[in-house]
Amino acid sequence: MVNNNKPLIIGNWKMNGLVSEATKLTQSLLASMPDKAEIVLCPPFTLLSHLQKIIQNSGLKLGAQDCHEQSKGAFTGSVSAAMLQDVGCEYVLIGHSERRTLHHEVSSLVASKAKAAYEASLKAVICIGETLEQYEAGQTIEIVQQQLQESIPQSAHADNTVIAYEPVWAIGTGLVPTLQQIQEVHQAIQQKIEALFPNSSTPWKILYGGSVKPQNAAEILALPSVNGALVGGASLDNDQFLAIINATHVTNEPIPMNNKATITS
Ligand code: PGA
Repeated sequence: MVNNNKPLIIGNWKMNGLVSEATKLTQSLLASMPDKAEIVLCPPFTLLSHLQKIIQNSGLKLGAQDCHEQSKGAFTGSVSAAMLQDVGCEYVLIGHSERRTLHHEVSSLVASKAKAAYEASLKAVICIGETLEQYEAGQTIEIVQQQLQESIPQSAHADNTVIAYEPVWAIGTGLVPTLQQIQEVHQAIQQKIEALFPNSSTPWKILYGGSVKPQNAAEILALPSVNGALVGGASLDNDQFLAIINATHVTNEPIPMNNKATITS
């Protein structure tokens, strides 16, 4: 089950990490990891088994960056959700914008992959977000709600699914929306979830992702509609990743909504 009480911080290593550096990174994270959040590492497929041995019996959890929509078969180069579960994954990212853009994954495929994740008892982290063009045209909420509707299976619920809002233009750029924009989009996602799943009584987790850094983590994570973060680049640097995890507790101060969260590096 998704732990709905603690913030969720996911580190997405993307296509980074050889065995030696991944071992060091994970061991040093384990040595200083605070018990403030549910923390998940999503390394490349090649490191999953290895990291599982390092993190077993610790609070750190394992996730993958993608899965195939079928459980097995003649799909050269692909990895199924059952295989991920077999090597110790609890989570899988689905529909990350780099998959949608570079691998042409459309929302209906994302929904099929999420279903495959549930069948293997994995939690799906379904990623949605608008492009810069859509953002500049003022279409963010419309696009994000539509993507959500098309990417989320009917069998989704708060315990098997996390939504990650990641504006495409914020990923790896150092740019982030204003706090007010993040709050508004997360509220719109929440409303769409309520419309799609009117009988759901448990709150769903909605993460923000896209250039989350130690400099902006506290104010983003303090927003009432933000339940955690999907962290790319900064998850490859333990000082930065730990600073983001530690920022999860600075949450009770009301944030002025016109504050800019933008950073440039
Ligand atoms: P970033 O990546 O933190 O490097 O912007 C986030 C992501 O792609 O999930």
